[in-house]
This record gives sequence, structure tokens and C-alpha cells, in this order.
Amino acid sequence: MLPSAAQDLPAIPFVAEDTHLGVASCAGSSCHGALEPWTNSTVLQNEYIIWEEQDPHSGAYKTLLTDESQRIANNLGLGRAEEADLCLDCHADNVPVERRAKGFQISDGVGCEACHGGAVNWLGQHISGDANHKANLAAGLYPSENPVARAKLCLSCHFGTEDRFVTHRIMGAGHPRMAFELDTYTWTQPAHVVVDDDYWARKGTIPSVQVWALGQVVAVDSLLDAMLDPNRNTDGIFPELVFFDCYACHHPLSNIRWAPRDSHEIGPGIPRIYDANIIMMRVLLQRIDPALADIVSIKSKALHQASLQGYDAVIDAARGLKDATEGIISRLASHSFTAADTKALLAGILTEGLSGEYVDYAAAEQATMAASAMLQTMADDDMISRAKYMELSAVLDDCYTVIEKDESYNPRQFLAALQKLQSAIQSL
Ligand code: HEC
Ligand code: HEC
Ligand code: HEC
Ligand code: HEC
Repeated sequence: MLPSAAQDLPAIPFVAEDTHLGVASCAGSSCHGALEPWTNSTVLQNEYIIWEEQDPHSGAYKTLLTDESQRIANNLGLGRAEEADLCLDCHADNVPVERRAKGFQISDGVGCEACHGGAVNWLGQHISGDANHKANLAAGLYPSENPVARAKLCLSCHFGTEDRFVTHRIMGAGHPRMAFELDTYTWTQPAHVVVDDDYWARKGTIPSVQVWALGQVVAVDSLLDAMLDPNRNTDGIFPELVFFDCYACHHPLSNIRWAPRDSHEIGPGIPRIYDANIIMMRVLLQRIDPALADIVSIKSKALHQASLQGYDAVIDAARGLKDATEGIISRLASHSFTAADTKALLAGILTEGLSGEYVDYAAAEQATMAASAMLQTMADDDMISRAKYMELSAVLDDCYTVIEKDESYNPRQFLAALQKLQSAIQSL
């Protein structure tokens, strides 16, 4: 079973119409609040405990009570952070009051229904044991197993939409930078599912490499939508700076790193458009559709060059790239990724870096997470042994070490780490 076309997906829980009942209605000890995983159930049943104890989403509202958050809110003239919709929209399940049932508590943070959808119409049949997953979906359960739906869900907070968005102004007030890669973040959340034969039988087999791929194209699409949105693409006389590479402006003056790149002709001393996901998408298309990859190279270069000309040029170029990639999400959702695809994609990620494309931190960060998703797929598909996977992961750890601190990122060290990884995979 493969994920359905992107256009058939339901609205994300934040904007769908269903009423949210609150975390307490999922947390019963005979529901998802078991202390230990059940052995006789298809799902773990201790999802609540994992969420409560290990998942940062359960603490997202509490974050708003900290001095750090209050400082951000003060800098923006917002009053209390925990009362500001601007913050609550992502740090809690901030649906309108009329969509909150009696037991709902905003202080639960990013609760179950912020991701799984308002439960009002599916909870009854779901606990009766009569319904199956398909019936639950029909009653409003959000299809988080579908990587496109999941990418849209996660990115709606981890990048933003027309309804909620962390601007450079909010970052300037002290909000951390947003980084996201769908496959890696799915596991580090941490996941409260065990992906095994039973899971695959119920929900379909979707390899890490495909989750990665869809995460990249949805991220590019979200970036282009924001660039095309007149409410989000400017701040006074300035363009919205989150569309640019943070480290083009923010790094110590002593750390000189500018170098020319094939993918644009933006000279030294000029901010560059943030293109880490676009680079990843290009690597992906070089394998899946080389002709389209060439078009995307031309269109993304045009987007970079347009930033030298002005807003109208950027909007035209963003639309050009969006039109060129129209339908690509659905195509990748129905593509069956083969072992040869995974191998070629890993090689493509390395080649791109060795040709000097990862001068900027965010690209190195994305490339590292991409390589990790690919090694994972190789191990899951038995393309490599467990021992080989451990060996290659240890080599990849060098890349992780180089990207550990964004501000002291050194592209030359990253290049050396990539070269080591390339020699290590030569024998595959
Ligand atoms: C309603 C908004 C929202 C949605 C939807 C959402 N997140 Fe988050 N996520 C947050 C917030 C807010 C934080 C920061 C929590 C904190 O520390 O206060 C966060 C933190 C995280 C972190 C920890 C990041 C770090 O640097 O430690 C991971 C991993 C993560 N989210 C993964 C995901 C994934 C995967 C999805 C989609 C399945 C997702 N999130 C959906 C709001 C959201
Ligand atoms: C578009 C969604 C969004 C909005 C709006 C938003 N945040 Fe966040 N916030 C996030 C996500 C996602 C993270 C986790 C980032 C990461 O680590 O990758 C986060 C992280 C944080 C952190 C760091 C938490 C930690 O554990 O280190 C603080 C503090 C914070 N946000 C405060 C605020 C405040 C205050 C506001 C309102 C002015 C706000 N946020 C608005 C999504 C949002
Ligand atoms: C930040 C988003 C997010 C939050 C919050 C969240 N989940 Fe999930 N949940 C996911 C994702 C992603 C998956 C994996 C994909 C899938 O199977 O749907 C998942 C899967 C599940 C599954 C299915 C496991 C299976 O094997 O089929 C259950 C059950 C579940 N979550 C329950 C909960 C409960 C209960 C809560 C609240 C205590 C919760 N989730 C909170 C994102 C979230
Ligand atoms: C075009 C250049 C440019 C880009 C690109 C840019 N910024 Fe900024 N940033 C600035 C300027 C200018 C300031 C204001 C500096 C000051 O007040 O001292 C600033 C301020 C900040 C501050 C507050 C610093 C302070 O000392 O108070 C943070 C945090 C920040 N930016 C984060 C980011 C992040 C994260 C990104 C990428 C998503 C980003 N910036 C992209 C130019 C940029």
C-alpha cells in the first residue's frame, strides 16, 4: 500500500473542524496510558507515558512559562507568553474555544489530538474495538502514517503555515532557529510506535529514504508558499529573513568561509536564499527524473539570482520553481524506492558535498540527516549487514560532530568527514 495523492489529504488537526477532547481522554490505563507496553496488542498502549516522560511536545506549553520565553514575549511586546496566541498556536493544541470539550486543557501542550486529530467523532468507535484504522480515518483520525500528511503536519509547526509562522523578528527576539528533517525527527521525537511486520501489514511499508524524500519536497513547497504569501514575505522594507541562510549573516567575523558554488552566482558579502532543502530535492530528482532535475537547477539558480533584483523578481522565480515541481509530491509518494535508488541517492548526497555545495551550515546539517536515513534504509532492507551498518554509522558520526555547533561550523572539516564516508561506502 502506498500513500495517497497529496491533494486527497485531510486538513491538519489545527484547522480541521472536529472538537478536541483533551489528552486525559486518551491516557486511561486501559487505553494509551499503560505503564509498560502490552504484549498482546498491535500498538504499544504506553504512548501516553512515552509522550509525557520523553517527548518534548508534552512540555511545549511549560516552555512558555520559562524566563527565556518571557524574554521573547517582552521583546515582542506580547505580555505573558503563555497567554499569547502567537506562542500557543505551536506550543499547545490551540484550537478555538468552541472546538474544546470539557476535559480539554491548554496546559497539556502539543497533545495527542494536535497530531492525531480531534477525537470527538472517532473516539467512541475506536474504544469499542469494532472499528479498524480505515473507519477511524473516515471519522477524522489524521493519517500520520502517511509521510506526506506527516510532513505537512510537522512542518506546520516546525516551519509554519499562513496561520502560524516563526518570522525572523520572532527569532531576533530570541526564538531558536528551526531545523527539520522528517525521518530523523520522527525517530528523535521519540516515536511511540514500533515499526515491525505487524505495523507494515496494517499501515504499509514506507522506507526511511521515502520518508526523507517526501519531507524534502514538502519542505521546499512550504518555503515557496511562504515566499509567495504577501502576509509573510516581507517585513517593512526588508524581505522576510528566514528565507535566507541564517549563517550568511550570523557567524563570527574571524571565521571566513565564503566560497563560490555551482548552484548560484551570488557573490561574497550578499545574503543567500536558504536552499538546503532545494539541494536535497535536486539530488533526489537527479535519480528519479534527471530531466526535471536539470529544470530545477535552472529554476533554483534563477531564484537565487532574483534575490539580487527585488521582490517581484523573487516572487516570479518562486512561482517558476513551484510550477516546475507541480505534482512531484504525488509522484514521489507513489514511487517504489529500490535498493539501487537508495545507493544512488547516498552517492548523490556525497557528490554534491564534495563539489562544494555544503559551504553553508544548514546544507551540511540536511546532508548528514539524509545520509542517516539512507543508511537506515539499507539496514532495514538487508542491503547491508548489521555490522556494516554500525561501521558506517560510526563514520557518519564524524559528520554529526562537525555540525554539532552551528556557529563554529567549518566547511573544510565537513568535506574531510564526507571524504571518509565516501571511501567507506566505496565497497558497497
Ligand atoms: C502543534 C505544533 C507542533 C506539531 C504539529 C509538531 N511539533 Fe514537534 N515541536 C513543537 C514544539 C513547540 C517543540 C519544542 C518543544 C519545547 O521544547 O518546548 C517541538 C519539538 C520537537 C522535537 C525536538 C526538537 C529538538 O531540537 O530537541 C522533535 C524531534 C519534534 N518536535 C518532532 C516532530 C515531528 C516528527 C512532528 C510531526 C509528526 C512534530 N514534531 C509535530 C511543535 C510541534
Ligand atoms: C510556528 C510555530 C511556532 C511558534 C509560532 C512559536 N514557536 Fe517556539 N518553538 C517551535 C518549535 C518547532 C520549537 C523547537 C525548535 C527545535 O528545537 O527544533 C520551538 C522552540 C521554542 C523554544 C526553545 C525550547 C527549548 O526546549 O529549548 C522556546 C523558548 C520557544 N520556542 C518559545 C516561543 C515563544 C515565547 C513563542 C511566541 C512568541 C513561540 N515559541 C512561538 C515552534 C513555534
Ligand atoms: C507530534 C505529533 C504526535 C503527538 C503529539 C502524538 N503522536 Fe501518536 N503518532 C505520531 C506519529 C508520527 C505516529 C507514527 C505514524 C503512525 O503510525 O500514525 C504516531 C503513532 C501513534 C499510534 C499508532 C501506533 C501503531 O502502531 O499504529 C498511536 C496509538 C499513537 N500515536 C497514540 C498517541 C497518543 C495516545 C498520544 C498522546 C499521549 C500521541 N500519540 C501523541 C505523532 C504524534
Ligand atoms: C540578511 C541577514 C540576516 C539573515 C539571513 C538572518 N539574520 Fe538574524 N539578524 C540579522 C540582523 C541585522 C539582526 C539584528 C542584530 C542586532 O540587533 O544586533 C539579527 C538578529 C538575530 C537574532 C538576535 C540577535 C541578538 O543579538 O539579539 C537572532 C537570534 C537571529 N537573528 C537569528 C537568525 C536566524 C535563526 C536566521 C535564519 C533563519 C537569521 N537570523 C537570518 C540579520 C540576519
